[in-house]
Amino acid sequence: MLNVKLIVTTLCLLLLVCDSVVESRKKKGNKPPCSTRKSFGSASYKFFGVRTLYKYARKKLPTTSNRSPENCHPVHIYLIARHGARLPHKGTRREQLRLQTFLRTLNSTGNAKLCSADMEALRNWVPWVGENVDKNQTEYGDNEIRGIAKRFLKLLPELFPTPSAPFDFRFRSSDYQRTIATMRVFAKEIFKKGRPRNSDIERTLQEANLQVVPLFDDTYLRFNLICQKYLKTVMRNSSRYAEYKNMLSGPLVDRIIRSVAFRLGVPKTSITPKFLYTIYLDGCSLQQWNDAENGPWCFPFSKKDLKALDYLTDVKEYWHRRHANRITREMSCDLAKDIMGSLNDAAESDRRGDDFPKGTFRFAHVTAVLSTAANFGLYQEDDLPVTEENYRSLMRNRKFSMARLSPSAGNLAFVLYKCGEEYKVQTFLNEGLTSIPGCSESDGKLCPLGYVLDHYRDFVPGSESECNYDEICQV
Ligand SMILES: *[C@@H]1O[C@H](CO)[C@@H](O)[C@H](O)[C@H]1NC(C)=O
Ligand SMILES: *[C@@H]1O[C@H](CO)[C@@H](O)[C@H](O)[C@H]1NC(C)=O
Ligand SMILES: *[C@@H]1O[C@H](CO)[C@@H](O)[C@H](O)[C@H]1NC(C)=O
Repeated sequence: MLNVKLIVTTLCLLLLVCDSVVESRKKKGNKPPCSTRKSFGSASYKFFGVRTLYKYARKKLPTTSNRSPENCHPVHIYLIARHGARLPHKGTRREQLRLQTFLRTLNSTGNAKLCSADMEALRNWVPWVGENVDKNQTEYGDNEIRGIAKRFLKLLPELFPTPSAPFDFRFRSSDYQRTIATMRVFAKEIFKKGRPRNSDIERTLQEANLQVVPLFDDTYLRFNLICQKYLKTVMRNSSRYAEYKNMLSGPLVDRIIRSVAFRLGVPKTSITPKFLYTIYLDGCSLQQWNDAENGPWCFPFSKKDLKALDYLTDVKEYWHRRHANRITREMSCDLAKDIMGSLNDAAESDRRGDDFPKGTFRFAHVTAVLSTAANFGLYQEDDLPVTEENYRSLMRNRKFSMARLSPSAGNLAFVLYKCGEEYKVQTFLNEGLTSIPGCSESDGKLCPLGYVLDHYRDFVPGSESECNYDEICQV
């Protein structure tokens, strides 16, 4: 009798304890997801395809000054950079208005799971993309470019005398506000060094002859827009978005829609896959790119969601950027020749003791930088194609990551050194020292110019195997 009572009491006690343990577990698990938590929003994940801020993707250029390899001094730098963070195109305003309309339905199920602070921030969100945005570079974008200039100036002080003369460098950009702005910001940073604060930098910029390549017939920096073979076989290929559409309507995105709808307290059916991508692209990622801050449209996404959507973005880009299409790299022939021609001429002039510009700077777009990097074999791709099917294998460490390869201000630089009697070349991709394929000397990271000229002979102007843009792009 007593025993039974004891057992019952113990059981009750245990149950009570268990119950409260379960209860507290539940409470923890049920805590509304909130952007203040590490696993939520863009505070948790910073990679958004080609709209990734440069600071998250760049490698570490040595920050101590004057870091030339031992017994070497720099002779020339060639740099091709993408513009910095920019505003979106006009059509984005319409998408943002749709987002605003959607806000009225928040918590219509009465069961929204997002924490109230985040819900409040979302409700207070207003479309901010104006009528005349036209992809102009933002101030933040200017600063990204300024940072790159500052670091290279510090790394190679011998190439940037104080003050530099306007004709010490060659500048060229494609004909867009964002690339011209990029070129001016970069040039200004160079000419500012060693000049008094009140000096007339504008006049120096004029004398420096900053060139803008007219869009019409720009085979140099905007070659992808006019390369007929690329347009026909890749850009206008009817299969171009097949994998993207496949993934967009697939189970992975469906799961994200379910979570996002649940968190926002809206019926799942009110978010189509396309609209989910609008929330991600024109709500979340755009604001991150523009303000460098964790905007409210990122709040309904977990870190895992954002990772998957960055992957989806890569799936979308993969088709027209993958190495499997030879044309995507070969079409940068003229730019590749500009690089090899500059390095070769700089070495020749130095050998003869002639004057030659200390730097050649080009400002363009994702495609120009990526295609050139691919043409030089400076980045590899994964063995598997970037598709939904390969998500599990590639989501962690894929090589084809636009966020890491081509963030805003993504860039490729070649530095020519004279080491003793020999000329050598260093290559930097987003400021990370990169090997020249097949060059065994110091792992290809300081490669004899002789090897470079031979390895890239297709890009050496006047060589027997010199590439020809018109032939490459002809259909
Ligand atoms: C959603 O609506 C319900 C019912 O009106 C309310 O109790 C709840 O606080 C709301 N949740 C949020 C996050 O606004
Ligand atoms: C974008 O740049 C163009 C050309 O400089 C300028 O006319 C236009 O006003 C700018 N728009 C915005 C929104 O800054
Ligand atoms: C479209 O792409 C596929 C796969 O790369 C290719 O086989 C096909 O030839 C392309 N179509 C055209 C018109 O070039």
